[in-house]
Amino acid sequence: MALHSVSAVGRIGRTFSNHGFRGLITKALTWLRHRIFTTSCSIWFTSHSDRDARSDDLSSTDLGIEFLDEDRSELEEWMKRHQPEFPWLFFPQEKSVADECNHVYSKITHHGLIVGYIKVGMKLVFVHDFGMSITFPQHHAFIYDTFVLPAYRGQKIAGFAVARTQAYLRQRGFNTIWCHIEAWNEPSLKLFGRNGFQERARIQFVRILNLKFFLRDRRVFSRRLEPFLNSTRP
Ligand SMILES: CC(C)(COP(=O)(O)OP(=O)(O)OC[C@H]1O[C@@H](n2cnc3c(N)ncnc32)[C@H](O)[C@@H]1OP(=O)(O)O)[C@@H](O)C(=O)NCCC(=O)NCCS
Repeated sequence: MALHSVSAVGRIGRTFSNHGFRGLITKALTWLRHRIFTTSCSIWFTSHSDRDARSDDLSSTDLGIEFLDEDRSELEEWMKRHQPEFPWLFFPQEKSVADECNHVYSKITHHGLIVGYIKVGMKLVFVHDFGMSITFPQHHAFIYDTFVLPAYRGQKIAGFAVARTQAYLRQRGFNTIWCHIEAWNEPSLKLFGRNGFQERARIQFVRILNLKFFLRDRRVFSRRLEPFLNSTRP
């Protein structure tokens, strides 16, 4: 507790010296608003086996992919190393649910070096944007994060990895694969569209203090996302 207060005072001091009194007030108001209210909107997609991209079309001898469902430590160390630049790569709560439910992380390599990953959840997935875990129906899998290092983007590496991950999940009996993408994320929309994903709904998440709810396609109000996931059929 004492250490926490000291680091908070340190952060306030740094903000004041870097941005002045106005900067400090702006930061304080942003922090307060975030404590009271948050909202985010994403498009939810599914893919089904008959519409998957053909992974053969996208293969390359330089690329490798490994599906990790037990020991993910090497990839997690890599994520932690890159986290200062990309803060969303690693969340402890996400990891503890991934460990508990044997999530699969696809490790993507280029000439043997890790250049990205895909995180796939099943059963229960902690969604950081919602600050809560979501339960998925049986035989459904959820691609909840896809990442390629900036220097390697635009070469269809993610396309190759998503296609291979789809094929792997089909073999394991997952007939519905979900992903969610924010509407501004054009590279990701193109990537998953090319790999056969089709839009199911636009989901707005809202949190006011501790009250959380979802609005589906601006019409359907729900406290949980599960009724929507369960009602979605191929
Ligand atoms: C999304 C991401 C994984 C794509 O990786 P990638 O290896 O570059 O993907 P690909 O090369 O297979 O395909 C990307 C598509 O986006 C397009 N694209 C790339 N950069 C773009 C840009 N700045 N604006 C619009 N489209 C772009 C490519 O042309 C390609 O589309 P096409 O098949 O129609 O030509 C990568 O950009 C990334 O890690 N982004 C940050 C994390 C992120 O947003 N993850 C997704 C969360 S849902």
